[in-house]
Amino acid sequence: MLSQKELEPNSYPGHIAIMMDGNGRWATKRGLPRTAGHLAGMETMRRIIQYSNELGIKHLTLYAFSSENWKRPQQEVDYILSLPNKFLDTKTQNELDRNNVKISFIGDLSKFSTELLQTISNIEERTKNNNGMTVNFALNYGGKTEIINAAKKLLTDGINPDQIDQEIFENYLYTKGQPTPDLIIRTSGERRLSNFLLWQSANAELWFTDTLWPDFSKELLIKAINDFKERKTKKT
Ligand code: FPP
Repeated sequence: MLSQKELEPNSYPGHIAIMMDGNGRWATKRGLPRTAGHLAGMETMRRIIQYSNELGIKHLTLYAFSSENWKRPQQEVDYILSLPNKFLDTKTQNELDRNNVKISFIGDLSKFSTELLQTISNIEERTKNNNGMTVNFALNYGGKTEIINAAKKLLTDGINPDQIDQEIFENYLYTKGQPTPDLIIRTSGERRLSNFLLWQSANAELWFTDTLWPDFSKELLIKAINDFKERKTKKT
């Protein structure tokens, strides 16, 4: 089994983004309702956050609910959107804070219930001064909408078009102030970006696995990181 020692800390990707795909198929294969797959996916997410922190990853962005996911049956949508409240119970909030993890939510949060918005604001406020790993949960996230909203805000702010460059544009994205991802992982055999971090993925390495998200493991995370390192070494 691979161990942390086999990774050279200096060559870690600083920012990993993950498309946590395959929860539904994982459940269906076991004769379970799709919601059971999402619950199992949440537990995998909990472990991967912990491993990433142990491995020294500085930024982790997790695609939890895309703006296209509203098209799913209402019961499934309601279930997925109940997960942040389930996940961020007092015990987990304490743990994240103790581990110096900063939590941030990216996406259009305006459609969410007051209860969910309260949870989001509590955990963001509570962890805002933590400077270990940052975890971004992408919720009601869509890359095209993010870019359109940035353009709209630039116009509203009256920014002179001649002044607009990449640096200024990035200040209008949800990920303002954060480095762009070095490595994007997608599970479940799908090999598309599906509207995820369209601007931010410009120079990212992409890594795919057939493993369904609930079965994703520390070993696969380390394999993705080592493959990333190998690709980077080949380029230099
Ligand atoms: C994609 O699998 C997964 C999702 C749409 C939900 C992912 C959410 C979590 C893992 C937990 C989120 C929790 C917090 C706290 C933000 P799929 O349903 O598309 O799977 P399929 O392709 O097999 O149907």
